[in-house]
Amino acid sequence: MPEIPSSAIPVAMRLSRYTKTEQDEILGGGADPFGVSAAGLTWLPKEEHFGVTSDDRLLAHAGLLRLPVAIGGTETEVVGVGGVAVAPDVRGRGLARLVLAAALRHARTMGPRHALLFCRPPLVPLYEHLGWHLLDEDVHVEQPGDRLVAMPLRTMVIPLHDDAIWPSGPVRLFSLPM
Ligand SMILES: CC(C)(COP(=O)(O)OP(=O)(O)OC[C@H]1O[C@@H](n2cnc3c(N)ncnc32)[C@H](O)[C@@H]1OP(=O)(O)O)[C@@H](O)C(=O)NCCC(=O)NCCS
Repeated sequence: MPEIPSSAIPVAMRLSRYTKTEQDEILGGGADPFGVSAAGLTWLPKEEHFGVTSDDRLLAHAGLLRLPVAIGGTETEVVGVGGVAVAPDVRGRGLARLVLAAALRHARTMGPRHALLFCRPPLVPLYEHLGWHLLDEDVHVEQPGDRLVAMPLRTMVIPLHDDAIWPSGPVRLFSLPM
């Protein structure tokens, strides 16, 4: 059986740099690559970045940052996950699973007990398949001009520790969404 050249095997790793250039390398330079512009939200950049590369090409990304929140009135922190992206020509091959696994491995070392992400409704089954849970609570996020808005996208959470149970009650991010 022919050997697969090691350079062609997708490898997940932490990225030292992730800017618009790297995002465009994955998604192209389209106007609305995440399909969320209709929501009209301002987003936070992510602070830590994970990627999947193969043959020196960046194929996938997921970003993380710690976010202060209140859940049911109790203040805590979550790890926000955002910028999840796979290059169009290699979708459906498990690269979102791979890059999210690398990001969540790191998220488990960051302190918060849960990770949280926002997504379009059609992506809920994909994230559920990967172990995320749809949150059936009101979620409010900050927006420029001291505005607090109800999040129009779906909110999904995943525990980062075995004994973590998501508390009940509405969620309020003390920041822009990620
Ligand atoms: C969303 C996106 C990242 C998914 O990438 P992908 O490469 O197709 O994802 P994967 O192949 O890793 O799929 C992950 C898993 O979900 C499963 N899956 C995919 N669609 C599914 C669905 N509708 N229902 C249930 N499971 C589904 C896959 O089978 C795979 O599971 P497996 O590893 O057990 O086979 C990609 O479509 C993308 O970049 N879209 C544009 C940017 C975007 O919208 N990002 C999301 C931001 S929240």
